[in-house]
Amino acid sequence: MGINIDKKLNRVHLFTQKTSYVIEVFEGELLHSYWGKKIILPHYTPLVPIEEVNSFSPNPNKLNKTYSLDILPREFPDYGRSDFRSPAYQFILEDGTNITKFIVKGIKKEQGKRPIPDLPACYQENNGEFETLIITLEDYKSKLQMKLYYCVSEKYEVITRYCEVINTGNSKIYLDRLLSMNVDFYNDNNFDLLHFYGSWARERHINRIDIGHSTHTIESKRGASSHQQNPLILLARKDCNEQKGEVYGMNLVYSGSFKGTIEVNPYNSTRVQIGINDFGFKWCLKANEAFFAPEVVMVYSNEGFNGMSNIYHRLYRERLIRGAYRDKPRPILINNWEATYFDFDEEKLECIGKAASEVGIELFVLDDGWFGKRNSDKTSLGDWYVNKQKLPTGLKGVANKLKNMGLLFGLWFEPEMISPDSELYMKHADWCIHVNGLTRSEGRNQLVLDLSNIQVQDYLIKIISDILESNPINYVKWDMNRHVTEVGSGTLPPNQQGEVMHRYILGLYRVMEELTSQFKDILFESCSGGGGRFDPGMLYYMPQVWTSDDTDAYERMFIQYGTSFAYPQISMGAHVSCVPNHQVGRSTPLQTRTQMAMTGNLGYELDLSSLSTEEIEIIKEHIKFYKKERKNLQFGKYYRLINPYENGMSSVLIETPQKDKYYLFIFFGVNKPNQNKMRIQLVYLKEGKYIIESVDFNENNHSKHIYDSSFLNLFGYECPLQNEDFESHLIVFTRV
Ligand code: DGJ
Repeated sequence: MGINIDKKLNRVHLFTQKTSYVIEVFEGELLHSYWGKKIILPHYTPLVPIEEVNSFSPNPNKLNKTYSLDILPREFPDYGRSDFRSPAYQFILEDGTNITKFIVKGIKKEQGKRPIPDLPACYQENNGEFETLIITLEDYKSKLQMKLYYCVSEKYEVITRYCEVINTGNSKIYLDRLLSMNVDFYNDNNFDLLHFYGSWARERHINRIDIGHSTHTIESKRGASSHQQNPLILLARKDCNEQKGEVYGMNLVYSGSFKGTIEVNPYNSTRVQIGINDFGFKWCLKANEAFFAPEVVMVYSNEGFNGMSNIYHRLYRERLIRGAYRDKPRPILINNWEATYFDFDEEKLECIGKAASEVGIELFVLDDGWFGKRNSDKTSLGDWYVNKQKLPTGLKGVANKLKNMGLLFGLWFEPEMISPDSELYMKHADWCIHVNGLTRSEGRNQLVLDLSNIQVQDYLIKIISDILESNPINYVKWDMNRHVTEVGSGTLPPNQQGEVMHRYILGLYRVMEELTSQFKDILFESCSGGGGRFDPGMLYYMPQVWTSDDTDAYERMFIQYGTSFAYPQISMGAHVSCVPNHQVGRSTPLQTRTQMAMTGNLGYELDLSSLSTEEIEIIKEHIKFYKKERKNLQFGKYYRLINPYENGMSSVLIETPQKDKYYLFIFFGVNKPNQNKMRIQLVYLKEGKYIIESVDFNENNHSKHIYDSSFLNLFGYECPLQNEDFESHLIVFTRV
């Protein structure tokens, strides 16, 4: 049981094994009383002091001047009735005003977890995994009803939240803002904020800052969750590190523009909230319609960042990701993009395929350039028919040749886009997002299809399913290479133009739902110029994501480090590419590139036929090892041991479910002369004796030693002395 409703004390206690979350009702208002380490509740209510009288904080109740909503910690706050902080919602009523007063009308709980209509969300698979609390509130006059949903799972150590607004009246209401969650920490701003920022090829770098007395906004206004900020917000105690300390994680299950706000009021109370970005958003809610705000996955851990990440990873692996590949080891792929870009023909592909199958690669992915007259990024998006000049035997012919070599076949699409130079644009220039009469800004020479238009959605479903049905395709890479500008839709009336961005995402979700449920055996990988849409919303449909277009192993040390805070390693596409690296011109050893990729989901993206025989032999060894250990590496428990921002190097430990084998990866940065050997403390090893085997592929140096976990825990594992820049090591610990 994870929900206790105490009617006498007007209090609800949500709890897991280790976490408590407490809500109270005070004069019909919802107060947020607690979120953190599991507690036994005292027999008084409310938990927060009510006798606060502060100047310039008005009292909403004439008969009780002891409180102001400006001061109280609130569960889902409005604006305009004495609370001046950032509200969770704002609705424009029939009379043009936007002041609402929602009063609690009912609190109930139910077993299980409902799906959220039209939106991705974590799900229950077996009875008893989730319990849901539903709080119903009603506005004092507008006939608007609001439902707050809290889904609690003891098994997954998590609470998720989302909400619904229902118009039970006869007149239109406009939603100006509806976020998914709000938490107020009363009298507490002792937090650092961690957020994950970046740009193309530099995704999810970590910024850790003291929240101080400011308001911080973490957001995307780009129509995608974006490379620029990830919809993940962490509030951590000052002493929180990878191994210990308190951290609160909030991750929005949404792939479009979002906004997170962290606001500290003058009394050191912290408000944190996240949801769909209200910028440019205005939703017309007609009579009898409902609107759902997407789910937020809330994780509390007092076992440091690793404790939190382990919770997210398990939940996402088991109860967010779906489909045939959820629990299946993923094939080792080779992608031709960096090997050929647009310049390929059947012979070249066969040549890469042959070399790939000889080293043991299992899946060939044909990237951009196979369709229309696409020989550069200037043309043909939307013309999803094969370019017979490049591929005379067609997709079927190419796929069959590769299959004869023992390879599965995968294909790249960028379905959401249209090139102005395309047959599709000649027929349907109005199918892109645009504002009439205004120049259409191009990004990478392309425009964005209007997925808020159901005709466009149906067209995409049809054209892609025709290709997938008529060709032997085992994998799809779903790319998206620009953000949305000139937001407007030709099919929506003027009063609904503020709905375009969200309707686009709903349309995208519909298209992905149809295709992934029709083609259950196909492995889908999402991509947005690398990791521009690495979010839980996309993961619900596609179990792996191309993490970044930056394939340099040193850069990946930071990108994969940041990504791993919420997203499991199995979801992180990670490829071995050539040197010098195409993005940064850096040369890192083949072993480092491979071991970095093995801490994600290993693939290759280079022209194998240009490598030396010696390198090919090494790659064969890498692949042999990976296939043997793949299940453990892809699905094992993942611990970050060394923070690359503080140390210029990093280390990752992966643990098997039985805790009988551990894989220690060490990645060095730039070498320095005259160093000591460093030791890495291995606090996560289960007690016992371990055979330690260094897997150094270059030198075939598989030396073995035996150590006790207590020694490794206290003194640490002694790393080899660094010999060269960007060197890496993999050491396997097997319990005996
Ligand atoms: C961006 C992707 O991230 C790349 O991997 C590649 O697929 C290109 N698009 C192709 O245009």
